[in-house]
Amino acid sequence: MPRKPSLASLSINAGAPPPTEGSAFRHGPEFASTFHLSGDVDPDSYQYGRFDQPTWRSLENGFAQLEGGDTVIFPSGMSAASAILTSLVNPGDTILLPSDGYKPVRHYTQQYLVRFGIKLKTVATADIDSFDFKGISLALLETPSNPMLDTFDIQAAADKIHNEGGLLAIDNTTLTLLGQQPLELGADISMSADTKAVNGHSDVLFGHVSSKDQSVSDKIRDWRKYSGNIPGPMETWLVHRSLSTLDVRLQRMCDNALQLAHVLIEHPKVLSIRYPGLSSDPSYATAKKQQLNFGFIISFELDNKAMADKFLEACQLVYVATSFGGVHSMAERRARWGTDDIAQGVVRFSAGCERPDDIINDVVAALDTL
Ligand SMILES: Cc1ncc(COP(=O)(O)O)c(C=O)c1O
Repeated sequence: MPRKPSLASLSINAGAPPPTEGSAFRHGPEFASTFHLSGDVDPDSYQYGRFDQPTWRSLENGFAQLEGGDTVIFPSGMSAASAILTSLVNPGDTILLPSDGYKPVRHYTQQYLVRFGIKLKTVATADIDSFDFKGISLALLETPSNPMLDTFDIQAAADKIHNEGGLLAIDNTTLTLLGQQPLELGADISMSADTKAVNGHSDVLFGHVSSKDQSVSDKIRDWRKYSGNIPGPMETWLVHRSLSTLDVRLQRMCDNALQLAHVLIEHPKVLSIRYPGLSSDPSYATAKKQQLNFGFIISFELDNKAMADKFLEACQLVYVATSFGGVHSMAERRARWGTDDIAQGVVRFSAGCERPDDIINDVVAALDTL
């Protein structure tokens, strides 16, 4: 029996049309606000551009194959998160969010859902393994968390929330579908801001939501249709094209992050470091158990704000920006936003696809100026 190809190999072609003689390997983006449609409406036909269209369907099929669940695409990670938070709860339900996760997700819930009778609870990611999920209807959690890279056991959290009749959604942005498989690990929903590593070229915002439960993905798809939060065909096509190189990019990025983490942990100017791939890191055991790689994000602490700013200025190859997952190494002093409860000197570093010796030399030279 031939062995089934890995997800990594499948990602090169996932969702592309089957090979037929004389046809292109990929179709281009299809631009259409409406489609020829006469007589009675066939639910499987394309009808109107806000409902469904061919470029979306190709990428959704590709994601579905890799995630293991029906997939709905969105124009940003936040629209994917909003779809989950808005379409799966009722007044009186309690949503659980990480207190140390991506702040706009908590902001959206507080600002737009709590006033309609939804309750919000928060928990630190490091405390989730011992958390009692009593009364939680929906949890949207991140592992590893961003920016401090704490982890929790997805399967254990899924078992606990299922006992309460609730749903577990995992924001898988920091690892991507090739770095962790939330649905395989027991979560009900896997979502991602594909703006980050899945697209990877810092030129498109995008997101998706996947679920094995058809009633969940039907509600998510309906929310997209009626809220009008739809992605453009060009962005959809660019993300699909990027998916083909995700595995090779991740390999270089994660290798760079691991090598850099080993250098940073020894550097006298670095007070502390978090990287789940270091065996001394509190996230190591869980990451090794449930992740397919250790990721490309490192957080490390320098003495103070001035030192962190000076370090960032001194880097030549590293772009200073508030994102992660791109082909360029990127870093920022995270406390500049005032949104995370972290020390002023913490730098979030996203390793890119540069040659490892180049990126390590650049970072060490910048640290040596301090
Ligand atoms: C973990 C996480 N989830 C969701 C988002 C939102 O994604 P987007 O900026 O595409 O809306 C981000 C953005 O930084 C993020 O880091």
